[in-house]
Amino acid sequence: MTEAMDPGSAQPRAPARTDGGPLARVDGLSVVFRSGGREVLALDDIRLDIAPGERVGLVGESGSGKSTLALAIAGFVKGKGRRQAGQVHVAGHDVFGGDHEALRRLRATQFGFVFQNPIGTLDPTRKIERQFFDPEGAAIPRPRIAELLRDVGLLDAPRVMGSYPHELSGGMAQRVAIAMAIEHAPPLMVADEPTSALDASIRIQILDLLLAHSQCQHSALLLVSHDLSAIRRYCERVVVMYAGRIVEQGPTEAIFRRPLHPYTAALMAAMPGREGFGGQLQAIPGHPPVVHAREEACSFAPRCPRASDTCRSHRPALLALPLREVACLRVDAVAAMAEEAAGEAVAAAGGEGRPA
Ligand SMILES: Nc1ncnc2c1ncn2[C@@H]1O[C@H](COP(=O)(O)OP(=O)(O)O)[C@@H](O)[C@H]1O
Ligand code: SF4
Ligand SMILES: [Mg+2]
Repeated sequence: MTEAMDPGSAQPRAPARTDGGPLARVDGLSVVFRSGGREVLALDDIRLDIAPGERVGLVGESGSGKSTLALAIAGFVKGKGRRQAGQVHVAGHDVFGGDHEALRRLRATQFGFVFQNPIGTLDPTRKIERQFFDPEGAAIPRPRIAELLRDVGLLDAPRVMGSYPHELSGGMAQRVAIAMAIEHAPPLMVADEPTSALDASIRIQILDLLLAHSQCQHSALLLVSHDLSAIRRYCERVVVMYAGRIVEQGPTEAIFRRPLHPYTAALMAAMPGREGFGGQLQAIPGHPPVVHAREEACSFAPRCPRASDTCRSHRPALLALPLREVACLRVDAVAAMAEEAAGEAVAAAGGEGRPA
C-alpha cells in the first residue's frame, strides 16, 4: 500500500467539464446546519467526481449526510444550513457561484430529481397534466406528456393525466415523477431513496426504469439508497459515507467483494441475504455520532473493532489506493486481513452481477 497518497493536500482541482472531464465535481464541500442552538457538521470536506453517464451509489446509515450531499450538488442547502467551505461544479458551472436565475436554469437543464415520497413532491391542487413544464417553465403539450407517461410504463396515459396526485398509487406517482424528470433528458439524475416508500413488489420496476433511462439518455445517476443489493445491481461505483465524510469509494464490485474500510465491511456484513433484494440495512452495533465540528480523530473509532489509540487522536485522510479511496489509518492492516479472506469473499459473492 506504499503507493497511497493523500489527496487532501492537493490544490483545488479544475472545474467539472463535459468534454472528457467529470460532469459534476464536488471539491472540499462542507455544510453545517444550525440545530438546537448548535451547529451540526453534515458534510465534512467532501471530494467527489461524477462522470457523464456514470451510475454512482451513495450509501451509509441514516444521518451520514447522503441527502445533504445529493441536494448540495444541485445547490440546495435546506433550512438553517449553510455551505461552510468548498465548491461544486456541474457541466462547467459553479453551482454556488451564480445568481438565483443562473441556479434555477442550471437545475432545470442539468438535473432530474426523484425523491422518496412521490405523492408529496407533486402539487396536490393540480391534475397531473398541469404539472409538466419544460426548463423554461412553459407547459408541455398533452401529446408529449402522454408519450412520456407511456415511456415510464403508465399505459393508460389519458386517465393518469386527468388524475390528481392523491388518486394515484405510490408506484404510479413515482413513475410520474420520473416522467417529469426525464422530459429534458437531464445529464444528471439525482434519486434520493426513490423506492423506500414503495411496496417491495414494485421497487425493482422503478429502479429498472431509472436504469433504462440512464442508459437510453446517457444520464449520470446518483442513487441514494439503504438497499445495498440495489446499489450493487444498478451502480458502477459506490460511495460510502459516515458522519459527513466519504470513508470509502471505488468500483462497486471491488468494494462489495473486498471492503477495506471497517465501516464498509460492517455495512456489508449487516446486509440482508441475497434473497433480501429490496431489504434494508440491519443494525450495526452502536450509533453514528452527530458531529459538531471537524474531528481530529476517526469518527468510527467508538464502533470499530480495529480501533487503536492513534485512531482516537488522528484524523484519517482519504487515501488514494489503486482503484479506490479509503479513509482509515490502519488500512494496511485491514487490507492484509481482507487479502487473507479474499478467496472466500469472492466465492461467496460470485454470480451476482448487475445488468449491463
Ligand atoms: N434541515 C436540517 N436541519 C438541521 N439538521 C439537519 C437538516 N438536514 C440534515 N441535518 C443533519 O445533517 C446530518 C445529515 O443528514 P442527512 O443528509 O439527512 O443524512 P442521510 O440522508 O444520510 O440520512 C444529520 O445529522 C442531520 O440531522
Ligand atoms: S481509522 Fe482506526 S477506528 Fe477508524 S476505521 Fe480505521 S481502524 Fe477503525
Ligand atoms: Mg436521507
